[in-house]
Amino acid sequence: TLLFCVALLLAYLLGSIPTAVWYGKTFFNIDIRQHGSGNAGATNTFRVLGKRAGTVVMLVDVLKGFAAASLTYLLRNEGLTQTELLGCALIFGFMAVLGHLYPLFANFRGGKGVATLLGMVLAIRPDVAAVCIGVWLLVVIASQYVSLGSMLAALAFPVLLLLRAFGQPENPLLIGFGFGVFLMVVITHKKNIGRIIQGNESRTVLIKMKKT
Ligand code: G3P
Repeated sequence: TLLFCVALLLAYLLGSIPTAVWYGKTFFNIDIRQHGSGNAGATNTFRVLGKRAGTVVMLVDVLKGFAAASLTYLLRNEGLTQTELLGCALIFGFMAVLGHLYPLFANFRGGKGVATLLGMVLAIRPDVAAVCIGVWLLVVIASQYVSLGSMLAALAFPVLLLLRAFGQPENPLLIGFGFGVFLMVVITHKKNIGRIIQGNESRTVLIKMKKT
């Protein structure tokens, strides 16, 4: 329908808002993509521009995914089934992630999609999203690699859904989608994986632990 196509376009445009690029240009007069890891995401903003900038970019990028998935609300009167509505939320959320990866407003060079994916998962399965955030925190605190935390959190999402599916019904479409998303996150982190293996991935200290 027309409404579906409008929502699809809106979702891509939402995702296309290059928060990290605009924040850097507006407040620091730099292109974040020429600094640090070169990624236009919250992690690199945190790394290059500091805590406050990183937090703002993270919140906005999460919100993009959340808002895109929530565009499903526009279709509430279209007589769709639960499964169809979930499918729409996945498609809209994914369009926002594509927008974030290939932003219309920043020469199609964006980020890796982790925060935007989180926003989408928060909209669809908030309880599972909360556990994924926990996994991310644990891995980042323990390894000091944000990229590793992102990849393992992305893996935790479909694995948790699968485990839970033994107890309560879960949409197989969503589980399959989750594994697909994990693959995508691995691909967007290809360079990080190379650096982790070579031992020169940059470390991010979230919580300073006392030396014993
Ligand atoms: O969310 C992106 C993060 O996992 C890695 O970012 O800048 O370290 O490549 P970066």
